[in-house]
Amino acid sequence: MPIPRHVAIIMDGNGRWANSRDLPRTMGHAQGEPALFDVIEGALEMTIEWLTVYAFSTENWSRSDDEVEFLMGFNVDLLRRRRDEMNEMGVRIRFIGEKEDPRVSDVLRAEIVASEELTARNSRLNLTFAFNYGGRMELGIAASRIAEDVAAGSIDPADVDEHALTARLYLPEMPDPDLVIRTSGEMRISNFLIWQSVYSEYVFTPTLWPDFDRKSLADCVAEYRRRDRRFGVTP
Ligand code: IPE
Ligand code: IPE
Ligand code: MG
Repeated sequence: MPIPRHVAIIMDGNGRWANSRDLPRTMGHAQGEPALFDVIEGALEMTIEWLTVYAFSTENWSRSDDEVEFLMGFNVDLLRRRRDEMNEMGVRIRFIGEKEDPRVSDVLRAEIVASEELTARNSRLNLTFAFNYGGRMELGIAASRIAEDVAAGSIDPADVDEHALTARLYLPEMPDPDLVIRTSGEMRISNFLIWQSVYSEYVFTPTLWPDFDRKSLADCVAEYRRRDRRFGVTP
């Protein structure tokens, strides 16, 4: 099997990484940054075209105010410090999720837009941050857009099908993930790319996200390559 074109990662286990060292949970998030950048470099080395990372879910707002505030500030800081470097590596940065949510600060929204604009002409690696992202939210919004188009007469209800819905997702040109990786030993999807991952291969690893690196990514890709994808067809 060829290498996956699109790898999507649920970066989980930051809190447990910190707890096991008697550190505050936020230190675990901070230690997720070198892991992410090593994985980005690994993806570039392996010529993976699309890398999507789950950075903040629509459910994560229910965490403590301190943790949410830290994560928002951390995202601002990370984009400011590292977008030039990502740009030089040929990475195209995009965000999927509700960035217009009033709970997302104007400062963070501005950094997101600046990062997307700076890297818009890059094509070596499509790096997508799922931020304030929920798969059900994405599908609900797509359904609402279809309803608007039906009401406006630009689509016939008889033509509303899976393609019509896919065309109204946050990033319609994003190919479905071939491989979904979740770190930290949890074996669930937690509202990540639920529509897009219907035929993805899943690899669950006990490694906590701050301990994950390009070698771990290569191991997950090797496991993927041993799989037999059948898409419902007899072999
Ligand atoms: C993943 O790590 C990062 C985010 C959800 C933002 P967690 O913070 O969920 O870490 P655990 O799962 O509690 O260890
Ligand atoms: C999923 O992890 C969200 C991110 C990695 C950003 P969570 O830690 O929030 O998921 P649950 O609560 O264990 O399902
Ligand atoms: Mg978690």
